[in-house]
Amino acid sequence: MAAFDQLRGEGYTWTQVGGGTYVASGVPDRSMAVAQTGPILDLPQSTCGVSKRARRAIEGVRVLPASHSLAKAFRTYEPAVDLFPVNLWARVAGRVLRNAPRSLYGQGSPGGYQPLRKAIAEYVGSARGVRCDAGQVIVTSGAQQGLDLVARILLDPGDTVWMEDPGYPGASFTLRAAGAKLVHVPVDDEGLMVDSARKLAPAPRLAYVTPSNQFPLGVTMSLDRRLALLKWAVKSGAFIIEDEYDAEYRYFGRPMAALQSLDRSGCVVYIGTFTKMLFNALRLGFIVVPQRLVPAFEATRSFVDRHPPTLDQAILAEFILEGHFGHHVRRMRQTYAERASVLRDAAAKRLNGLVDVVEPVAGMRTIAWLNTDASDIAIVERGRSLGLELTALSEFAVRNSHPPALILGFAACNASELRRGVGVLATALESKRTRGKNAS
Ligand SMILES: Cc1ncc(COP(=O)(O)O)c(C=O)c1O
Repeated sequence: MAAFDQLRGEGYTWTQVGGGTYVASGVPDRSMAVAQTGPILDLPQSTCGVSKRARRAIEGVRVLPASHSLAKAFRTYEPAVDLFPVNLWARVAGRVLRNAPRSLYGQGSPGGYQPLRKAIAEYVGSARGVRCDAGQVIVTSGAQQGLDLVARILLDPGDTVWMEDPGYPGASFTLRAAGAKLVHVPVDDEGLMVDSARKLAPAPRLAYVTPSNQFPLGVTMSLDRRLALLKWAVKSGAFIIEDEYDAEYRYFGRPMAALQSLDRSGCVVYIGTFTKMLFNALRLGFIVVPQRLVPAFEATRSFVDRHPPTLDQAILAEFILEGHFGHHVRRMRQTYAERASVLRDAAAKRLNGLVDVVEPVAGMRTIAWLNTDASDIAIVERGRSLGLELTALSEFAVRNSHPPALILGFAACNASELRRGVGVLATALESKRTRGKNAS
C-alpha cells in the first residue's frame, strides 16, 4: 500500500476509484525537466552584446586553465606547490584569524594592509634594492592587477607602448585593453633593444620590461641597456613598467638590483608578486609607485575592487615578519636549482642532439632550442597529445621571430616527473623527426 501511495503521489500511476490503478502515460521526471531548446544560437558578433571595446580587449586572450592536478612536465607558470609548507601556513593563518581585531573585518585601505605594505617595502629594499617607503607600496591581486592599474592610470587610448617581443602576453592584453598601441621591440641577449625601439617609435608613453629575467627568453638586461632606457624615459617624460615576477630565483652570480633602484626621477613603476614566490591561488602581489602617483593609484583602486582581502593580507604579513617567507624563498631557490639540473641532465641523456637546453641563470623555466626541422608549435601539439604541458617560444613572438624553441618549466615538477617528461618529449621529438623525413 505504501509503495502504491508513493507511486501515485509522485505521478507514476493514477487510480480510478473502483476501477483500479494504472501506469501514467507520461513519466513525471520528463515533465519536471527543462525542455530542450535546441542548440545555443550562434549570434553574429555585432549583436552578441559585448562592447566593441571589450571585443578588442579579449581578442586572442588565452584563459589559463585551472590547475586540477599537480603540475605535469613542463608547466611554466607555477612554483613548487608540492613543497609549500602547508602546515606552517595553516598555523600562522589560524593564529592570525583567532587574534585579529574586529577592525580587520571592516573596510580596508585601498593601498593595502599597512603592516604588509611595510613588510614589502623592507623586503624589496633589502632583496632588490628598490627605494620606497611603505606608502608607495600598493598591494594588488597579483602582478596582473598591478599591470591593469598601471594601464588604467598612465595610458590614454592611442598611446604608444614599447613592448618586449617576444614578451609576456598578460601584459600585452592588459595594455591593449587600455587602448594602447603596442610597438613590438626586439630583445637580444642584453634585453630590450632600446636603440631599435627609439627608431620604431621615438615618443612612446610607456615601456614594459622584465629586466631581471626576460619573459620568455630568460636574459638579464645589461646595465648599459638599463641606463639607456632610464635616460630615454627621463628625457621624454615616459614611464617604465618593471615587471619582476620571479627575480628572487637566481642561480649564478650576484643578482643585479632592480632597475627602479637606479631611478632618481620617479619614472619606474615596479611590479612584484607573491604568486610565484608562494603559490598562485594566493593572488597577492604589489606595485611600488612613484610618490606623486600614490593618490591616483589609491583612488582608482578604491573603485576597482577597493582592496585585497584584509585577513589574507594579515596572514601574509605575519608569514613574512616571522621570517618564514625568506626561509621558503631560500629553500625554493635551492630546490629549483636542483630541479633545473635534473632537467638538463635528463635532456643531455635522452634528447641529445635534438634540443639544446639552456642552463637557466634565473627563474622557473628555461629555453630548449630545437635542432629539428619541425616547427615548435608542431612539437608542442604532439607533446600535449602525449600529456605534456608544453609551450612554444613562437607563441610569445609577434613580429620578431627566433629559431624554434620550447619553454620548459622546471620549478613545479619533482625530479621523477621531470625525467618522465623528458622521456615523453624524446618520443614527441623523434616522431616529428621521423614524420618530417617521411614527408620529404
Ligand atoms: C612576466 C609575468 N608577469 C606577470 C605575471 C602575472 O603574475 P600573477 O600571477 O601574480 O598575476 C606572470 C605570470 O606568469 C608573468 O610571467
